[in-house]
Amino acid sequence: MSELIATRIRDTATKLGLLHLAEVVPDLVKRAEDATMGYLDFLDLALGEEAGVKDGRRFRNALKLSGLPHHKTLDDFDFTFQPDLDVRKIRDLATLAFVEARANIALLGPPGVGKSHLAVALAVAACQAGFSVYFTSLDDLVAKLRLASAQGKLGWQIRSYLRPSLLIVDEVGYLPLDRADANLVFQLVSRRYEKGSIIITSNKAFSEWGQVFTDEVLATAILDRFLHHCDVISINGPSWRLKERLSAPDPTPISPSVTE
Ligand SMILES: Nc1ncnc2c1ncn2[C@@H]1O[C@H](COP(=O)(O)OP(=O)(O)OP(=O)(O)O)[C@@H](O)[C@H]1O
Ligand SMILES: [Mg+2]
Repeated sequence: MSELIATRIRDTATKLGLLHLAEVVPDLVKRAEDATMGYLDFLDLALGEEAGVKDGRRFRNALKLSGLPHHKTLDDFDFTFQPDLDVRKIRDLATLAFVEARANIALLGPPGVGKSHLAVALAVAACQAGFSVYFTSLDDLVAKLRLASAQGKLGWQIRSYLRPSLLIVDEVGYLPLDRADANLVFQLVSRRYEKGSIIITSNKAFSEWGQVFTDEVLATAILDRFLHHCDVISINGPSWRLKERLSAPDPTPISPSVTE
């Protein structure tokens, strides 16, 4: 490739925002020549290279903005440890049709069974697919809404929770909310209803949500909207945390004192 054409391609690619392509054109041309590629294959390769780099960058940005506590995936999840959990159902959810449909997911079960892990794994898949994601505990969510309400900025704060395609609200039920806080959650759930997906994780059955939200009427109104389009996944197996503790070697017994 002549130096003149190489420079012109680099300049044009830069002007068009194809920054990766601008860097790698000489390499791509060499690959194309070595493989005696046709025009269409070469164009496909060049555009695919740029798109791949852009997708990677968008994925990393989405992960950064998501507030996810870690980036564990479904491949990191040992389904044999929860034999009652329907693997196919979870894999279906990972196709993210529920995000397109603005539907919800509830992951219910006792501590350590992998509720947050699965919520995060679905969120990572969503980031990879180009959706925007935001992860929060219910506690943090309520604290932010409460502060915003006190500062007269509730509308703005609620709108910030409407923006992501997928909102994950972790740990519903660990701490009960008073009526005013429950009302803030109700406002958010009603505004997101049929507009954006929510995944919640909870250690409480829906029948106990009246206690979590202090007020049966509010809890029913929240559940009515949330459950209208919702997959409910109950995980009732053992805790992974206990498994790790039980399989850890016994601590070394304390040796008898030499003075005995
Ligand atoms: N089946 C599994 N395979 C691999 N790791 C698992 C599995 N289940 C849980 N874990 C791991 O165990 C730890 C606890 O899981 P997780 O935080 O998802 O539990 P949880 O159900 O959300 O519990 P809690 O109600 O206490 O929040 C995490 O490190 C998670 O990655
Ligand atoms: Mg959890």
